[in-house]
Amino acid sequence: MLERLVYRSQATHKLGSLHLFNLLSQCREKNKRLGITGHLLYTEEIFVQCIEGHKDSLDALWASIQRDERHHQLELLSRGPVADRRFKDWTMAFSSYSHFNKYNMPGFFPVEHDGMNEAAKKCAEV
Ligand SMILES: Cc1cc2nc3c(=O)[nH]c(=O)nc-3n(C[C@H](O)[C@H](O)[C@H](O)COP(=O)(O)O)c2cc1C
Repeated sequence: MLERLVYRSQATHKLGSLHLFNLLSQCREKNKRLGITGHLLYTEEIFVQCIEGHKDSLDALWASIQRDERHHQLELLSRGPVADRRFKDWTMAFSSYSHFNKYNMPGFFPVEHDGMNEAAKKCAEV
């Protein structure tokens, strides 16, 4: 059964472009294996992430994410079965300020001055 999970968390330390590039590369490699798609928003040291996939894969990934010391104060915003994926084209799309995109990551969406864009809105929608 396909499920979607959305959470919010606080970065433990400020992350730079290289940290984010490495995090995204790690996410995309594993998500591809697990059949996970989604979107990560990073603004003002806050993450909002939407992950979607089959229940077992989502359980495994969520357990890893909760153990990750790069962030804390995780708050589950929603989780439940869904009919369709919101981010079917992305193993992990990423939205943040454009200065974080030094490495020209594919699937990078710059946020506007209000810290939002269309992908981020879709991600945070519960
Ligand atoms: C904000 C945040 C989002 C993450 N999102 C993912 C993700 O979508 N997929 C992924 O494989 N790992 C993600 N990770 C990394 C995992 O927490 C973990 O380090 C990675 O899955 C490897 O875990 P493992 O060593 O237990 O396999 C994320 C980490 C953070 C801090």
